[in-house]
Amino acid sequence: MKIAIGCDHAGYELKEIVKDKLTSEGYELIDLGTNSSESVDYPIYGKAVGEKVASGECDKGIAICGTGIGISISCNKVKGVRAALCNTEHLAEMSREHNDANVLCLGAREIDKELALKIVDKWLSTDFLGGKHLRRIKMLEE
Ligand code: RB5
Repeated sequence: MKIAIGCDHAGYELKEIVKDKLTSEGYELIDLGTNSSESVDYPIYGKAVGEKVASGECDKGIAICGTGIGISISCNKVKGVRAALCNTEHLAEMSREHNDANVLCLGAREIDKELALKIVDKWLSTDFLGGKHLRRIKMLEE
């Protein structure tokens, strides 16, 4: 599976941790930056992650900022993206089962690293349920 990953300065440290973990597990990652803790604007990175997923170049995306809010709004501006800000494992599971979320957003200043990695695990290992949920996500595209 190919995953696009991006963040702003507030998410940089967590992005590197998530990247190391997923690379060691055999995922192919496309890192869209940012690549330091120097202040940048999250819309640039949310858009970049969203576009990689919407174009089909990547199967899924992970986007990180301080709260996760700004970058999730940015990702969701790209047509075809269903970005979900998840700060619990349950939300990660639901976002996949019910919403077929194709981008996971994390708030690096809101959750600790251990929880963030558990959320990533849950999100990547949970499948979409389809059925009535498919009808609903199709409605999102109309
Ligand atoms: C950066 O200070 C912060 O505003 C950003 O990371 C994010 O939390 C925005 O939603």
